[in-house]
Amino acid sequence: MTSQVLCRREDLDATGAKEIVLDRDGARLPVFVLKFGERILGYVNSCPHARLPLNFKEDSFFDVSGTYLFCANHGAHFDAVSGRCMRGPCKGQSLTPFPIRIEGDVIFAAP
Ligand code: FES
Repeated sequence: MTSQVLCRREDLDATGAKEIVLDRDGARLPVFVLKFGERILGYVNSCPHARLPLNFKEDSFFDVSGTYLFCANHGAHFDAVSGRCMRGPCKGQSLTPFPIRIEGDVIFAAP
């Protein structure tokens, strides 16, 4: 199976994150890739509170401070690295990690 390209590093420059909707055997799988410090991580774009996408605006996943991932629906704040909800209605629950692989400037879905 060939790895699917998600985005390039520079796609993360404007907002720190990039939303991608994958097709997995005909099913829609929304994911996002984010840059936090030197780390690049992936998550499924589904909030553990109500299983809604986190963002209202395209590629907008961080709170105003740029410190936490933010769910625009009911205000949950997530640690960007662990995906754990630190504040909000799903405190203690976590985003679902989405495995990625990085080669040079290109970020792939892994495997
Ligand atoms: S759906 Fe994310 S906080 Fe409610």
